Amino acid sequence: MGADVAEQTKSKGWCWYLIVFVIGALVVAAATLTILKNFHNSAKPTSIPGAILVNNRIAWRGDSGLRDGGNEENLDLSRGMYDAGDLIKFGFPMAFTATVLSWAILEYGDHMNAVKQLEHAQDSLKWITDYLINAHPSANVLYVQVGDPEVDHNCWERPEAMTEKRPLVKVNMLFPGAEVAAETAAAMASASMVFKKIDFTYSSMLFMHAQQLFILADTYQGSYSVSILQVQKYYNSTGYGDELLWAATWLYHATGKQFYLRYVLLSRINFFGAKDESTSENLDLQLYRESAEAIVCALLPDSPTATSSRTESGLIWVSEWNSLQHPVASAFLAVLYGDYMLTTQTETLYYIGKSYKPEDLHKFAISLADYVLGNNPMKMSYLIGYGSSYPQYAHHRGSSIPVDAKTGCRDGFKWLNSSHPNPNVAVGALVGGPFLNETYNDS
Ligand SMILES: *[C@@H]1O[C@H](CO)[C@@H](O)[C@H](O)[C@H]1NC(C)=O
Ligand SMILES: *[C@@H]1O[C@H](CO)[C@@H](O)[C@H](O)[C@H]1NC(C)=O
Ligand SMILES: *[C@@H]1O[C@H](CO)[C@@H](O)[C@H](O)[C@H]1NC(C)=O
Repeated sequence: MGADVAEQTKSKGWCWYLIVFVIGALVVAAATLTILKNFHNSAKPTSIPGAILVNNRIAWRGDSGLRDGGNEENLDLSRGMYDAGDLIKFGFPMAFTATVLSWAILEYGDHMNAVKQLEHAQDSLKWITDYLINAHPSANVLYVQVGDPEVDHNCWERPEAMTEKRPLVKVNMLFPGAEVAAETAAAMASASMVFKKIDFTYSSMLFMHAQQLFILADTYQGSYSVSILQVQKYYNSTGYGDELLWAATWLYHATGKQFYLRYVLLSRINFFGAKDESTSENLDLQLYRESAEAIVCALLPDSPTATSSRTESGLIWVSEWNSLQHPVASAFLAVLYGDYMLTTQTETLYYIGKSYKPEDLHKFAISLADYVLGNNPMKMSYLIGYGSSYPQYAHHRGSSIPVDAKTGCRDGFKWLNSSHPNPNVAVGALVGGPFLNETYNDS
């Protein structure tokens, strides 16, 4: 878990990390066993070639970072995602992004298909998983970063024009990084389910990587931000227990193997302790369900345990840095939990003398989505390109620099400082979000 979130969650009594295990456990019905039978740890990973943009729908984007991985090592790390508005590829948040995207596709792919977005979502996911496959060239080595953040932050330039050195950072047996390896395992296990029916060979390859990475993470338990101090400044980690459980949950979901379920049940006690309960009572998914209910009820505004981490008009608000990350995640979990209630014919959720229906969860989730899309005191959509009023000055290099501008590392800053709106609209980008007082500074 990243430090930012961890500190907030601990201090406010939240347990975000628990809900993910519950949900994995709740939807076990779809589990399958076939992949494991066909693939063994000994299979040699294959590398995915080439990164020339195909089907590019964004006129102001072109090829960039084509030599990533190739100068230092013989790797093709040209795909993957840059972090936020900058040009570093950070493996930890990138893997989490892929997992959540997989999850959204698995749950709501039919809705995406109805609005003709499913293939785009799958392509975006594959753009990351292609990268992750190449970043894991042998069983016990995982590359977790491309680029030097100090150098990168000193520049403001389009990725297509970048010429700086792109050093690599990796974890292995000597420099373990259990959270990043496990998060990557989760990404690949969940993506293997997405691609199973589309491309069985690719799906099997992802699954093999997921298994190997889980073994690496579980065998060499150590935090990557202890092994590699330089990562502390960006995506610091407070521990790897939650990622190991998250990875095991996805592997269980992908395989139905009891081994992973036992891991999820037993390791919860090892990593997070058990309060005055016998071990046998802990070896039960019921505890995960209770945690999920507690989280859902902390989110709902009128529950006895409602979190006070929200703005006056009801936006879940936990931290100033990237404030929309928590409300958007909360909306996803609430709508999902409501849907799980419907599919399991659970009419009512009872909690400390109150009861909730799936509609209550859906209503709450929609209120957050509406807030993000413009029903807020600023009357502004925080999703760029949506509605009539949205941020014009997002902190994004490609968006802020005209395509035909010739910039090097430093002189591009005049575009960051420019008082004119960004020349390229980053349609679909979500900005960091409002302050606790619900103002937003668009500059
Ligand atoms: C990173 O997290 C560790 C563990 O919580 C903490 O001791 C350390 O001070 C953090 N480092 C930075 C730069 O925030
Ligand atoms: C941009 O603004 C920063 C301060 O915010 C300043 O240090 C820098 O010199 C400016 N650069 C250009 C090219 O205008
Ligand atoms: C809202 O909060 C921000 C950040 O704390 C602060 O900079 C700003 O002045 C506040 N605005 C108002 C209108 O209180």
